[in-house]
Amino acid sequence: MTVQIAPSILSADFAALGDAIAAAERGGADLIHVDVMDGHFVPNITIGPPVVTSLKRIAKVPLDVHLMIEEPDRYLEAFAEAGASMLSVHVEVLPHLHRTVHAIQALGVKAGVVINPATPVASLSEIAGDVDYVLVMSVNPGFGGQTFIARSESKVRDVRALLARAGNAAPVEIDGGIDQRNVGRVVAAGASIIVAGSAIFHTADPERATRELKAAALGATPTVPR
Ligand code: DX5
Ligand code: ZN
Repeated sequence: MTVQIAPSILSADFAALGDAIAAAERGGADLIHVDVMDGHFVPNITIGPPVVTSLKRIAKVPLDVHLMIEEPDRYLEAFAEAGASMLSVHVEVLPHLHRTVHAIQALGVKAGVVINPATPVASLSEIAGDVDYVLVMSVNPGFGGQTFIARSESKVRDVRALLARAGNAAPVEIDGGIDQRNVGRVVAAGASIIVAGSAIFHTADPERATRELKAAALGATPTVPR
């Protein structure tokens, strides 16, 4: 069974992102998770396409770009050109989600759909057959270092089941409050892309933290078919 670790550089030192990415990669990171925030959809502001372009030059693993922005359609092309291998968009901001998912795929990028903690899994029912992955937010987006919302575990199970019904083997990604203690539970529930920010970059040794989180994730046994 494959589990991928996607360290989120949101919790890294923004003046030394190259070092952060290199450490995560030495620790076995499979992806680098990049959080894009606009100060509208979420209260925080982070980075845009020029930074992704620079990260792409130094990253050895694919960039998983999480768009927490209003009107993401306006920026899909720019992030694709900047080097995103995966682009995820929130259902909460998209009245024409089907169009957006296919626009991402037409750019040659994997399309992910994200649901916030208060957004029902059922909001994905008509798009489940089309997506390349689903991202379940296990905190309210905007900041690193928040506490994992326990209910997210059953949401992962429900998303897994929904994808199975749609005949889609796409992975479920989880993002927010993931650490050594809870990673086994979310993997057992069916998550196979694990985002972690503070559990990796708010430690003295991000390389080691990545390695240990990955070992904990790989040691967990899924209890649902994937
Ligand atoms: C939150 C971001 C997350 C964040 C996770 O809005 O989407 O990717 O970096 O950070 P932790 O792992 O600290 O909750
Ligand atoms: Zn994220």
